[in-house]
Amino acid sequence: MPPRPKIPRPTVKRLSLYLREIETRSELGHKTISSKQLGQALGLTDAQVRKDLACFGNFGHPGVGYQTTELIAELRNILGTDRQWNAALVGVGNIGRALMSYGRFRRKGFDIAAVFDSDPTIVDQDIAGHHVHSMKDLAGLVKERDIKIGVVAVPAAHAQQVADQLIAAGVLGILNFAPKRLDVHDKVSVVSVDFSVALEQLAFQVSLGLVGSLEEG
Ligand code: NAI
Repeated sequence: MPPRPKIPRPTVKRLSLYLREIETRSELGHKTISSKQLGQALGLTDAQVRKDLACFGNFGHPGVGYQTTELIAELRNILGTDRQWNAALVGVGNIGRALMSYGRFRRKGFDIAAVFDSDPTIVDQDIAGHHVHSMKDLAGLVKERDIKIGVVAVPAAHAQQVADQLIAAGVLGILNFAPKRLDVHDKVSVVSVDFSVALEQLAFQVSLGLVGSLEEG
């Protein structure tokens, strides 16, 4: 995999938001979008949009804006989502089943290629269109199915152990739903999703009467 330039995290987050907005408009038949339209849709200034996109090249066309299909391809390339990513999901509980049932990941280039659980009453069952594998099959299936992303959806007390197993099997990125900071070596990326933290941020905003979107940061 070629090395990617270091991009500030808030910029990467905005790129994903740009991509989501442009994909929606493209599906509605829009052929072009201006930095102003993109900024307005996301509560950002057009200068911020132009600055972010200019980091990666000159995609705009004077007087026209950005061609939606061209910009979608460029953003997917920058974000590394112009290819298929196979993911392993560990933990077939509430969160795991919700993720397994959500059909749009595949359209975004992410395929839940294998799911695992340690509970013998679930192992070998077919749930939401996925066969649940035993943890003892994890190392073999991660290699066999070229899985590079692991999703941790197990209780916090087991999250580190599961992450270690995924990394030992060859996973390079972990999406962590457990409320636990994971220790990983520097070749592995971790993104944590925590609704409680997001809700706390929101409660803080609301309690202080602050308005605006937290997505900008
Ligand atoms: P759950 O209890 O419904 O399911 C957990 C699953 O993990 C079970 O099927 C269990 O058999 C399996 N498991 C446990 N230890 C394992 C191991 N060592 N190896 C493989 N599988 C194992 O839990 P739920 O509600 O789905 O939550 C999953 C995680 O997500 C928890 O850490 C929870 O705190 C967290 N959570 C995160 C949220 C967020 O915003 N990120 C919101 C709600 C929950």
